[in-house]
Amino acid sequence: MSYLPNSLAARDIASLVHMQTNLRKHQEEGPLIITRSSGCRVFDDTGRDYIEAVAGLWCAALGFSSERLAKVAYAQMRELGYYHIYRHRSNEPAIALAEKLLEIAPVPMARVLFQCSGSEANDTAIKLAWYYWDAIGKPQRKKIIARHMAYHGNTCAAVSLSGKPDMHAGFGLPMPLFRHTEFPHYYRRHEPGETEEHFSVRMAEALDALIQAEGPDTIAAFFAEPVMGAGGAIVPPHGYFEKIQAVLHKYNILFIADEVICGFARTGEMWGSQTYGLRPDMLTSAKALSSAMQPISAVLINDRIHDAMLAQSDRFGNFAHGFTYAGHPVAAAVALEVQRIYDEIDIVARVKRLGPILQSTIGQLAANPLVGDVRGTGLILGMELMRDRKQRVAFDSTLNVGGRAGAAAKRQGLILRVVGDRLVFAPPLVIEEDDIEEIGIRLARALNDVAEDLKSEGMFA
Ligand SMILES: Cc1ncc(COP(=O)(O)O)c(C=O)c1O
Repeated sequence: MSYLPNSLAARDIASLVHMQTNLRKHQEEGPLIITRSSGCRVFDDTGRDYIEAVAGLWCAALGFSSERLAKVAYAQMRELGYYHIYRHRSNEPAIALAEKLLEIAPVPMARVLFQCSGSEANDTAIKLAWYYWDAIGKPQRKKIIARHMAYHGNTCAAVSLSGKPDMHAGFGLPMPLFRHTEFPHYYRRHEPGETEEHFSVRMAEALDALIQAEGPDTIAAFFAEPVMGAGGAIVPPHGYFEKIQAVLHKYNILFIADEVICGFARTGEMWGSQTYGLRPDMLTSAKALSSAMQPISAVLINDRIHDAMLAQSDRFGNFAHGFTYAGHPVAAAVALEVQRIYDEIDIVARVKRLGPILQSTIGQLAANPLVGDVRGTGLILGMELMRDRKQRVAFDSTLNVGGRAGAAAKRQGLILRVVGDRLVFAPPLVIEEDDIEEIGIRLARALNDVAEDLKSEGMFA
């Protein structure tokens, strides 16, 4: 495509590197430039509207603009637009937000650390796991286990934790101390006749075997998202976390719940940990913490971790870790206001009401011949596209059926996330029923377009 020399698109191509983007293709195709929003809809620079069915990057819980949050940021910037929390300094928004998080934590937590992104939160949690084992005299416990297809971020350690091969390729990653175990994609990976419960037993056995092979006394921690987001919105099968946690308990391995996507009602409870009965030692959170209006993330730690950190201060003096913008007063003030809004609109009740509507609206498309499976919880779900649903036969990956569906949806004015041949939905939590209905309509049209395309190429009967 060619753009006018001084157009935004031409300037974009000439100046920006885009993340998670085929850079060569971007030179040809250029950007989709979003200029404004209204509720769950965003508008491009030609005025076209799109329903944003994945809340940007699973984060814009309250939509993409807010007068109320803008006023809070403005007032805070006028009062105190920056102050750090190093070396005993503090500021009120950071204190109040930490208190709020401790109040709503899914399990008793002792303290909060702030950072600016989900990746930094997970990096911090990894360091804290190492710090903990060092404090209690077991510094050899260094290995970290996560799951294949997990997404935990992109800093060197967080991406090593992530289990997506495309994120490692060309970077010489993952780093040596990171291991990956099976991921619980029941629909694709269960044996014929295997129940969810039996599948979960198999997943726990695989984890146990990995720990045994590595040596239990070398493992520091296990990380998991309650629902795997960028792995394809994969909800855990029955009994999965109960069995996984039993294995972790057996070997005294720390459990860190990555609630960066699931936190703040996405799964129908305030935390994914509540939806699935997780009892983490640490919890990482970002995204909907501030409804993505400010870059802020948090790590919640329990007494076990905090007591060890205090002991390290007795040994070393300073807790020598931090980020310049950690506990930033503007980010914290906005996040605190977001929490007030969640309370006012009873965000959990809202997701409990609208979640089943989204699940059934998209679930109705399970009858579409392209669709193999639809499952989710709350306001997150994944749809698997399959050549043959009954026999669970996938499309040849060279057909790029998922990519075609994503492009067809975009043409219909629907933005969703594509993971292989899975279509993923996680709309803003303030979505209304009429927009859910519209997602169903636009998605049905997109699926029909893809089916027609494949048929015309003789690739689908
Ligand atoms: C579960 C999960 N953890 C961590 C991250 C990384 O967060 P960030 O992009 O803010 O670094 C993401 C980002 O999508 C995520 O989905």
